[in-house]
Amino acid sequence: MLRVLFVGDVYGQPGRRVLAQHLPTLRSGFDFVIVNAENAAGGFGLHREAADAVLKAGAGCITLGNHAWHHKDVFALMLDEAKYPIVRPLNYTDPGTPGVGWRSFDVKNAAGESERLTVVNVLGRVFMEAVANPFRALDDLLERGDLGSVFVDIHAEATSEKAALAWHLDGRVAAVIGTHTHVPTADTRILPGGTAFQTDAGFTGPARSVIGADPEAPVQKFLTERPHRFSVAAGPAELNAVALRLEDNRALAVERYRYLEGD
Ligand SMILES: [Fe+2]
Ligand SMILES: [Fe+2]
Repeated sequence: MLRVLFVGDVYGQPGRRVLAQHLPTLRSGFDFVIVNAENAAGGFGLHREAADAVLKAGAGCITLGNHAWHHKDVFALMLDEAKYPIVRPLNYTDPGTPGVGWRSFDVKNAAGESERLTVVNVLGRVFMEAVANPFRALDDLLERGDLGSVFVDIHAEATSEKAALAWHLDGRVAAVIGTHTHVPTADTRILPGGTAFQTDAGFTGPARSVIGADPEAPVQKFLTERPHRFSVAAGPAELNAVALRLEDNRALAVERYRYLEGD
């Protein structure tokens, strides 16, 4: 049995701060930690400094999302596979896309035995940029054997697309957990086939914000219908995560987790 923690989108310096402050102690209760870090660099993408901070805090794997390519650094990091265990979205159409869309890890469980865990990151297509069909991309991937327990980070806007993917994969993967909206959903559960599902893990970043940004610019944007420059919000940060117990590609337990700085 593997105890896996999945931490939602780390957003800017406040996200990195709360991760560095809280994850090192939290991680002792888990065998492996996956962190979505698609907003770790100032709210957009991942650079070397942010990747180093996320790994130092205890991440064993970094997943990404629609902001994957925002910083050029990420191309160099993806070439250094041993040092930077990054999984970018699987379902790009370009066969020359840098990096990998899934990755298997042989993880030591609490009993000291090795268990395989495969981490996959896919992008949704509803209200997002055009990419290949994530349902088909996962069907193709799951034809491979030897993946162990499969964890899917579905990075998508629409709740319906995430739920449909979870039901499509029920019984064939251990967990389907959503990211991207930065708001945790209260639908944490195990589907009948044994797949853990939560529509969105929520994010790790400034709590007093509009999904990470200082409220001023988003409010003005919606009020005036004109663009305004967004900045990372100040104040206390929250960490949102999903805790899982996985065995033989099934979920035994799934639980939402939230930590707020100063609480
Ligand atoms: Fe995000
Ligand atoms: Fe995103």
